[in-house]
Amino acid sequence: MKHLFLVGNWKSNKTEVEALEWLGQWRMEKDITIILCVPFTLLSVCKKFIDEHKLPISLGAQDLSEFPVGSYTGAINAAQIKEFADYVMIGHSERRNYFHETDNELAKKTEQAVTAGLKIIYCVQSHTDPVPAGVSILLYEPAGAIGTGNAESPDEAEKECALITASNNLPVIYGGSVTEQNVALFSAKQHIMGVVVGKASLDPTQFIKILSNFRDTP
Ligand code: PGA
Repeated sequence: MKHLFLVGNWKSNKTEVEALEWLGQWRMEKDITIILCVPFTLLSVCKKFIDEHKLPISLGAQDLSEFPVGSYTGAINAAQIKEFADYVMIGHSERRNYFHETDNELAKKTEQAVTAGLKIIYCVQSHTDPVPAGVSILLYEPAGAIGTGNAESPDEAEKECALITASNNLPVIYGGSVTEQNVALFSAKQHIMGVVVGKASLDPTQFIKILSNFRDTP
């Protein structure tokens, strides 16, 4: 039996009140690793709530500074994240597109995350993308499927995830317009070890339905 991951990516959404409301609606236990990647501003409050209520959810950040602790105004470094979270996402396609992050910067971010002991969810768009050492999970995000409502076909995603697995020997998860309707088609594939959910993670009811619809076999 394969071990599955469900990652929620809140992106640049939610205030403190909204985050607490979301967490307050959590009602689900399943043998799946659940990781919630929240904005930096919500890490502290989410950690407190998750710890107090013993929710089966790990926290992640969506990005980190390529620099260590020090005089880097506005930057959030790996050690600061590690106070609250176990995971960090690096190289999301939105970071690459809107913030022009390069492979070189992503390699530096990865080094910082490794040094701080963070587990890294590293995003790629193809099996030919470089992957730095120290990554824990690879996220396959096909261009055109992120935030568009047009998920890739599960067969295509499976083919690419098999190639990514073969070149990196790491668990690979799929991201791009996953919903409660299509999640099982992805999670049941041999080389897809879970999914990342953006838009549909904002509503706890939808996210919980996605979790309950997970299947690890066809
Ligand atoms: P989406 O985002 O579910 O809104 O397409 C996915 C992602 O961020 O990987």
